[in-house]
Amino acid sequence: MTENSEYSPNTNQPAENPPGHREHIDRQLLHSEKMAAIGQLAAGVAHEINNPVGYVYSNLQSLGEYLSDLFRLTDAVESAASIEDLHQIRKSIDYDFLRGDLEDLLAESKEGIERVKTIIAAMKDFSHTEEEEFRYADLHAGIDTTLNLVNNELKYKANIVKAFGELPKIKCIISQLNQVTMNLLVNAAQAIEDFGTITISTWRDGDFVILEVEDTGPGIDATTLNRIFEPFFTTKPVGKGTGLGLSLSFNIIEKHRGEISATSTPGQGTTFRVRLPVHQPQEPADD
Ligand SMILES: Nc1ncnc2c1ncn2[C@@H]1O[C@H](COP(=O)(O)OP(=O)(O)O)[C@@H](O)[C@H]1O
Ligand SMILES: [Mg+2]
Repeated sequence: MTENSEYSPNTNQPAENPPGHREHIDRQLLHSEKMAAIGQLAAGVAHEINNPVGYVYSNLQSLGEYLSDLFRLTDAVESAASIEDLHQIRKSIDYDFLRGDLEDLLAESKEGIERVKTIIAAMKDFSHTEEEEFRYADLHAGIDTTLNLVNNELKYKANIVKAFGELPKIKCIISQLNQVTMNLLVNAAQAIEDFGTITISTWRDGDFVILEVEDTGPGIDATTLNRIFEPFFTTKPVGKGTGLGLSLSFNIIEKHRGEISATSTPGQGTTFRVRLPVHQPQEPADD
Protein backbone atom coordinates (compact mmCIF):
# COMPACT_ATOMS: atom_id res chain seq x y z
CA MET A 1 0.00 0.00 0.00
CA THR A 2 1.17 3.52 -0.68
CA GLU A 3 1.40 6.26 1.90
CA ASN A 4 -1.87 7.39 3.32
CA SER A 5 -1.61 10.41 5.50
CA GLU A 6 -3.94 12.77 7.19
CA TYR A 7 -3.33 16.26 8.39
CA SER A 8 -5.64 18.47 10.32
CA PRO A 9 -4.01 21.48 11.92
CA ASN A 10 -4.91 22.63 15.40
CA THR A 11 -3.71 26.15 14.93
CA ASN A 12 -1.72 28.07 12.38
CA GLN A 13 -1.23 31.29 14.30
CA PRO A 14 1.51 31.96 16.84
CA ALA A 15 0.18 32.14 20.41
CA GLU A 16 1.82 35.48 21.22
CA ASN A 17 -0.36 37.51 18.85
CA PRO A 18 -2.11 40.37 20.63
CA PRO A 19 -5.91 40.16 20.79
CA GLY A 20 -7.49 41.55 17.65
CA HIS A 21 -4.37 40.82 15.62
CA ARG A 22 -5.76 37.51 14.48
CA GLU A 23 -8.95 39.05 13.21
CA HIS A 24 -6.91 41.65 11.35
CA ILE A 25 -4.78 39.03 9.63
CA ASP A 26 -7.88 37.04 8.73
CA ARG A 27 -9.41 40.07 7.08
CA GLN A 28 -6.26 40.78 5.15
CA LEU A 29 -6.02 37.18 4.05
CA LEU A 30 -9.67 37.14 3.13
CA HIS A 31 -9.16 40.23 1.06
CA SER A 32 -5.98 39.22 -0.76
CA GLU A 33 -7.24 35.72 -1.42
CA LYS A 34 -10.48 37.17 -2.71
CA MET A 35 -8.58 39.48 -5.04
CA ALA A 36 -6.43 36.60 -6.27
CA ALA A 37 -9.47 34.39 -6.73
CA ILE A 38 -11.30 37.13 -8.61
CA GLY A 39 -8.27 37.64 -10.82
CA GLN A 40 -8.12 33.93 -11.57
CA LEU A 41 -11.82 33.78 -12.20
CA ALA A 42 -12.07 36.94 -14.26
CA ALA A 43 -10.65 35.39 -17.42
CA GLY A 44 -12.91 32.37 -17.17
CA VAL A 45 -16.00 34.40 -16.36
CA ALA A 46 -15.26 36.84 -19.18
CA HIS A 47 -15.07 33.92 -21.58
CA GLU A 48 -18.31 32.41 -20.24
CA ILE A 49 -20.14 35.71 -20.63
CA ASN A 50 -18.56 36.68 -23.92
CA ASN A 51 -19.97 33.72 -25.79
CA PRO A 52 -23.69 34.25 -25.04
CA VAL A 53 -23.32 38.02 -25.33
CA GLY A 54 -21.75 37.48 -28.76
CA TYR A 55 -24.63 35.49 -30.17
CA VAL A 56 -27.32 37.59 -28.52
CA TYR A 57 -25.73 40.61 -30.19
CA SER A 58 -25.70 39.01 -33.61
CA ASN A 59 -29.26 37.78 -33.05
CA LEU A 60 -30.30 41.36 -32.36
CA GLN A 61 -28.82 42.38 -35.69
CA SER A 62 -30.81 39.69 -37.51
CA LEU A 63 -33.85 40.70 -35.53
CA GLY A 64 -33.45 44.27 -36.81
CA GLU A 65 -33.32 43.05 -40.41
CA TYR A 66 -36.33 40.78 -39.94
CA LEU A 67 -38.30 43.60 -38.39
CA SER A 68 -37.65 45.94 -41.27
CA ASP A 69 -38.85 43.20 -43.64
CA LEU A 70 -41.96 42.72 -41.52
CA PHE A 71 -42.59 46.46 -41.48
CA ARG A 72 -42.37 46.46 -45.24
CA LEU A 73 -45.18 43.96 -45.25
CA THR A 74 -47.37 45.74 -42.69
CA ASP A 75 -46.79 49.13 -44.36
CA ALA A 76 -47.84 47.57 -47.64
CA VAL A 77 -51.21 46.67 -46.14
CA GLU A 78 -51.93 50.43 -46.31
CA SER A 79 -50.35 51.26 -49.61
CA ALA A 80 -50.45 48.12 -51.75
CA ALA A 81 -52.67 48.33 -54.79
CA SER A 82 -53.80 44.74 -54.64
CA ILE A 83 -53.65 41.58 -52.57
CA GLU A 84 -51.31 40.28 -55.26
CA ASP A 85 -48.76 42.94 -54.27
CA LEU A 86 -48.97 41.79 -50.67
CA HIS A 87 -48.38 38.19 -51.68
CA GLN A 88 -45.42 39.37 -53.70
CA ILE A 89 -43.86 41.14 -50.74
CA ARG A 90 -44.60 38.23 -48.43
CA LYS A 91 -42.76 35.97 -50.86
CA SER A 92 -39.84 38.33 -51.34
CA ILE A 93 -39.12 38.52 -47.63
CA ASP A 94 -39.28 34.73 -47.29
CA TYR A 95 -41.90 35.06 -44.59
CA ASP A 96 -42.02 31.38 -43.57
CA PHE A 97 -38.29 31.16 -43.01
CA LEU A 98 -38.28 34.47 -41.19
CA ARG A 99 -41.03 33.35 -38.87
CA GLY A 100 -39.33 30.12 -37.91
CA ASP A 101 -35.95 31.76 -37.53
CA LEU A 102 -37.43 34.52 -35.37
CA GLU A 103 -38.68 31.95 -32.90
CA ASP A 104 -35.31 30.17 -32.76
CA LEU A 105 -33.48 33.41 -32.45
CA LEU A 106 -35.61 34.61 -29.56
CA ALA A 107 -35.37 31.28 -27.73
CA GLU A 108 -31.61 31.20 -28.18
CA SER A 109 -31.21 34.80 -27.03
CA LYS A 110 -33.33 34.17 -23.98
CA GLU A 111 -31.18 31.18 -23.07
CA GLY A 112 -28.01 33.22 -23.56
CA ILE A 113 -29.23 36.03 -21.35
CA GLU A 114 -30.32 33.53 -18.72
CA ARG A 115 -26.81 32.07 -18.72
CA VAL A 116 -25.35 35.55 -18.22
CA LYS A 117 -27.87 36.25 -15.44
CA THR A 118 -26.86 33.04 -13.66
CA ILE A 119 -23.19 33.93 -13.83
CA ILE A 120 -23.83 37.45 -12.57
CA ALA A 121 -26.03 36.16 -9.73
CA ALA A 122 -23.25 33.76 -8.78
CA MET A 123 -20.69 36.56 -8.81
CA LYS A 124 -22.96 38.70 -6.64
CA ASP A 125 -23.46 35.88 -4.14
CA PHE A 126 -19.78 35.36 -4.16
CA SER A 127 -18.76 38.94 -3.56
CA HIS A 128 -20.87 39.47 -0.45
CA THR A 129 -17.77 39.54 1.70
CA GLU A 130 -18.90 42.37 3.91
CA GLU A 131 -21.72 40.16 5.01
CA GLU A 132 -20.64 38.95 8.43
CA GLU A 133 -23.97 37.70 9.68
CA PHE A 134 -24.50 34.06 10.44
CA ARG A 135 -27.79 32.98 8.88
CA TYR A 136 -29.43 29.66 8.15
CA ALA A 137 -28.61 28.83 4.54
CA ASP A 138 -28.76 25.97 2.08
CA LEU A 139 -25.27 24.56 1.57
CA HIS A 140 -26.31 22.79 -1.64
CA ALA A 141 -27.52 26.05 -3.17
CA GLY A 142 -24.15 27.56 -2.23
CA ILE A 143 -22.29 24.70 -3.91
CA ASP A 144 -24.39 25.13 -7.07
CA THR A 145 -23.69 28.87 -7.13
CA THR A 146 -19.99 28.15 -6.82
CA LEU A 147 -20.10 25.47 -9.53
CA ASN A 148 -21.70 28.00 -11.85
CA LEU A 149 -18.84 30.36 -11.27
CA VAL A 150 -15.95 27.95 -11.63
CA ASN A 151 -17.54 25.82 -14.32
CA ASN A 152 -15.22 27.27 -16.92
CA GLU A 153 -12.12 26.23 -14.98
CA LEU A 154 -13.47 22.79 -14.20
CA LYS A 155 -15.11 21.57 -17.36
CA TYR A 156 -11.91 20.94 -19.29
CA LYS A 157 -10.30 19.16 -16.34
CA ALA A 158 -12.90 16.92 -14.78
CA ASN A 159 -16.30 15.36 -14.67
CA ILE A 160 -18.13 16.74 -11.69
CA VAL A 161 -20.06 14.16 -9.73
CA LYS A 162 -22.53 15.47 -7.18
CA ALA A 163 -23.45 13.03 -4.43
CA PHE A 164 -25.66 15.25 -2.32
CA GLY A 165 -27.37 13.83 0.74
CA GLU A 166 -30.24 15.28 2.74
CA LEU A 167 -29.03 18.36 4.55
CA PRO A 168 -30.76 20.73 6.95
CA LYS A 169 -30.08 24.44 6.52
CA ILE A 170 -27.02 25.35 8.52
CA LYS A 171 -26.18 28.54 10.36
CA CYS A 172 -23.29 30.04 8.46
CA ILE A 173 -21.94 32.89 6.40
CA ILE A 174 -22.74 31.25 3.10
CA SER A 175 -20.59 33.56 0.94
CA GLN A 176 -17.56 32.49 2.96
CA LEU A 177 -18.42 28.81 2.71
CA ASN A 178 -18.78 29.30 -1.05
CA GLN A 179 -15.26 30.62 -1.08
CA VAL A 180 -14.05 27.48 0.68
CA THR A 181 -15.86 25.26 -1.83
CA MET A 182 -14.38 27.26 -4.65
CA ASN A 183 -10.85 26.89 -3.30
CA LEU A 184 -11.29 23.14 -2.94
CA LEU A 185 -12.75 22.76 -6.44
CA VAL A 186 -10.13 24.93 -8.13
CA ASN A 187 -7.31 23.16 -6.28
CA ALA A 188 -8.73 19.80 -7.35
CA ALA A 189 -8.98 20.90 -10.98
CA GLN A 190 -5.48 22.37 -10.93
CA ALA A 191 -4.07 19.18 -9.43
CA ILE A 192 -5.57 16.91 -12.10
CA GLU A 193 -3.09 16.51 -14.93
CA ASP A 194 -5.19 15.57 -17.93
CA PHE A 195 -8.78 14.79 -17.15
CA GLY A 196 -10.28 13.28 -14.05
CA THR A 197 -13.23 13.23 -11.73
CA ILE A 198 -14.13 15.54 -8.90
CA THR A 199 -16.76 14.18 -6.55
CA ILE A 200 -18.63 16.49 -4.22
CA SER A 201 -20.40 14.58 -1.47
CA THR A 202 -22.52 15.83 1.40
CA TRP A 203 -24.27 14.11 4.23
CA ARG A 204 -25.60 14.75 7.67
CA ASP A 205 -23.92 13.44 10.76
CA GLY A 206 -26.14 14.25 13.75
CA ASP A 207 -25.75 17.95 14.54
CA PHE A 208 -23.10 18.31 11.86
CA VAL A 209 -22.98 18.31 8.09
CA ILE A 210 -20.08 16.94 6.09
CA LEU A 211 -18.86 18.19 2.74
CA GLU A 212 -16.23 16.25 0.87
CA VAL A 213 -14.38 17.18 -2.29
CA GLU A 214 -12.51 14.24 -3.74
CA ASP A 215 -10.30 14.30 -6.79
CA THR A 216 -8.47 11.77 -8.93
CA GLY A 217 -5.36 13.93 -9.10
CA PRO A 218 -1.78 12.95 -8.25
CA GLY A 219 -2.31 13.26 -4.49
CA ILE A 220 -0.12 14.94 -1.88
CA ASP A 221 2.92 13.36 -0.23
CA ALA A 222 3.06 13.29 3.57
CA THR A 223 5.61 16.11 3.95
CA THR A 224 3.64 18.46 1.74
CA LEU A 225 0.39 17.47 3.39
CA ASN A 226 1.75 18.82 6.67
CA ARG A 227 2.09 22.26 5.20
CA ILE A 228 -0.86 22.83 2.87
CA PHE A 229 -2.86 24.92 5.38
CA GLU A 230 0.04 27.31 6.01
CA PRO A 231 -0.43 30.82 4.63
CA PHE A 232 1.58 31.31 1.42
CA PHE A 233 2.49 27.65 1.12
CA THR A 234 2.20 26.72 -2.53
CA THR A 235 3.77 24.20 -4.86
CA LYS A 236 2.50 26.10 -7.88
CA PRO A 237 4.55 28.39 -10.10
CA VAL A 238 4.61 32.13 -9.44
CA GLY A 239 1.48 33.74 -10.83
CA LYS A 240 -0.54 30.56 -10.55
CA GLY A 241 -0.59 29.89 -6.82
CA THR A 242 -0.94 32.30 -3.92
CA GLY A 243 -0.75 29.68 -1.20
CA LEU A 244 -3.64 31.45 0.50
CA GLY A 245 -6.62 29.36 -0.52
CA LEU A 246 -6.36 26.66 2.10
CA SER A 247 -5.16 28.85 4.95
CA LEU A 248 -8.09 31.14 4.33
CA SER A 249 -10.44 28.17 4.08
CA PHE A 250 -9.07 26.88 7.35
CA ASN A 251 -9.77 30.21 9.05
CA ILE A 252 -13.28 30.39 7.64
CA ILE A 253 -14.12 26.88 8.84
CA GLU A 254 -12.62 27.60 12.24
CA LYS A 255 -14.79 30.72 12.51
CA HIS A 256 -17.76 28.44 11.84
CA ARG A 257 -16.59 26.13 14.65
CA GLY A 258 -16.04 23.39 12.13
CA GLU A 259 -13.09 21.32 10.97
CA ILE A 260 -11.30 20.91 7.68
CA SER A 261 -8.88 18.10 6.94
CA ALA A 262 -7.24 16.41 4.01
CA THR A 263 -6.37 12.81 3.28
CA SER A 264 -4.40 11.70 0.31
CA THR A 265 -3.05 8.61 -1.32
CA PRO A 266 -0.27 9.71 -3.67
CA GLY A 267 -0.94 8.42 -7.15
CA GLN A 268 -4.66 8.08 -6.47
CA GLY A 269 -6.04 11.38 -5.33
CA THR A 270 -6.95 13.67 -2.50
CA THR A 271 -10.03 14.15 -0.36
CA PHE A 272 -10.81 17.30 1.56
CA ARG A 273 -13.41 17.00 4.28
CA VAL A 274 -15.25 19.89 5.90
CA ARG A 275 -17.35 19.27 8.99
CA LEU A 276 -19.72 22.03 10.05
CA PRO A 277 -22.17 22.35 12.91
CA VAL A 278 -25.82 22.80 11.93
CA HIS A 279 -26.33 25.42 14.64
CA GLN A 280 -24.11 28.10 16.12
CA PRO A 281 -24.16 29.45 19.66
CA GLN A 282 -25.64 32.95 19.99
CA GLU A 283 -22.24 34.62 20.34
CA PRO A 284 -19.89 34.53 17.33
CA ALA A 285 -16.76 32.40 17.70
CA ASP A 286 -14.05 34.40 19.47
CA ASP A 287 -10.87 33.48 21.27
N1 LIG B 1 -6.56 18.66 -4.48
C1 LIG B 1 -5.21 18.80 -4.35
N2 LIG B 1 -4.37 17.91 -4.89
C2 LIG B 1 -3.03 18.06 -4.76
N3 LIG B 1 -2.44 19.07 -4.08
C3 LIG B 1 -3.24 19.99 -3.53
C4 LIG B 1 -4.66 19.92 -3.62
N4 LIG B 1 -5.19 20.96 -2.95
C5 LIG B 1 -4.15 21.65 -2.46
N5 LIG B 1 -2.98 21.09 -2.81
C6 LIG B 1 -1.63 21.55 -2.41
O1 LIG B 1 -1.77 22.54 -1.41
C7 LIG B 1 -1.08 23.72 -1.78
C8 LIG B 1 -1.76 24.93 -1.15
O2 LIG B 1 -3.05 25.13 -1.70
P1 LIG B 1 -3.69 26.58 -1.62
O3 LIG B 1 -3.60 27.07 -0.21
O4 LIG B 1 -5.02 26.54 -2.23
O5 LIG B 1 -2.71 27.48 -2.47
P2 LIG B 1 -2.46 27.47 -4.05
O6 LIG B 1 -3.59 26.73 -4.71
O7 LIG B 1 -2.46 28.93 -4.41
O8 LIG B 1 -1.13 26.83 -4.25
C9 LIG B 1 -1.08 23.70 -3.29
O9 LIG B 1 -0.03 24.47 -3.84
C10 LIG B 1 -0.89 22.20 -3.56
O10 LIG B 1 0.46 21.83 -3.42
MG1 LIG C 1 -5.59 27.11 -4.25
